[in-house]
Amino acid sequence: MPTLTSLLLTSLTLSHSLLASPLSSDFLPRHSLQDDLPQTPNSVGHHDGYYYMWWTDGVHKATYNNLPGGKFSIIWKANTRESGGNFIGGKGWEDGKNRTIKYSGKFELTKKQYIAIYGMTQNPYNEFYILDYHGTYNPGPSTAKKLGEVTCDDGDYEIYRRGWWEGGSPPGITMPTRIYSIRKQKRIGGIVRTGCHFEAWKKLDIDIGTILFQIVAVEGYQSTGRAEILVESPP
Ligand SMILES: *[C@@H]1O[C@H](CO)[C@@H](O)[C@H](O)[C@H]1NC(C)=O
Repeated sequence: MPTLTSLLLTSLTLSHSLLASPLSSDFLPRHSLQDDLPQTPNSVGHHDGYYYMWWTDGVHKATYNNLPGGKFSIIWKANTRESGGNFIGGKGWEDGKNRTIKYSGKFELTKKQYIAIYGMTQNPYNEFYILDYHGTYNPGPSTAKKLGEVTCDDGDYEIYRRGWWEGGSPPGITMPTRIYSIRKQKRIGGIVRTGCHFEAWKKLDIDIGTILFQIVAVEGYQSTGRAEILVESPP
């Protein structure tokens, strides 16, 4: 398995070639976390005009902060004594409009984390990710089926779908289908025109249903780190 250092060096090397990859300035320095991080209860709502959503399985210690305007921060620490440990949260809009979403931010580099435009839909029940950055874990090839590619906002995205039927859902439990656009040139910050992805998914006969919300989200899984994100587009 490659080390984190070698991956970071690879991405830095690539950033000097054709691929625009995150620069070291996109990453927050390592810091030591306090042991007793407050656990923010799951919630959805509105803050300073933005819709926000915060969910965790409770295995992580994870704190979500709504900061003024489009800002939010998340700090998390894996619980090494238990498996699991998953959270997702962020700010955006409670609709499915074609939006031009501008955001910026910083991460502390960890293994399993995403920054994405994330949303949920109903009829049918989907989760979607326009995944601008992922750590060592790429959910596309790991769990899903590749359906195509699309170029949006100067980036090449691979489109994957993971059906509930492929996910090993327990009988009687309805799991969402996951739709992914995964950016090859990873980045933390930029402009995402969501309509470009919605249209590309439709062309591939993906039934995205009715979009309930779209947020700039950070997700983490079995990792420890922090993120500070600013949604720059108005609420
Ligand atoms: C959304 O964006 C796509 C892709 O640019 C476009 O084809 C579609 O017509 C747009 N839909 C609306 C409602 O503006």
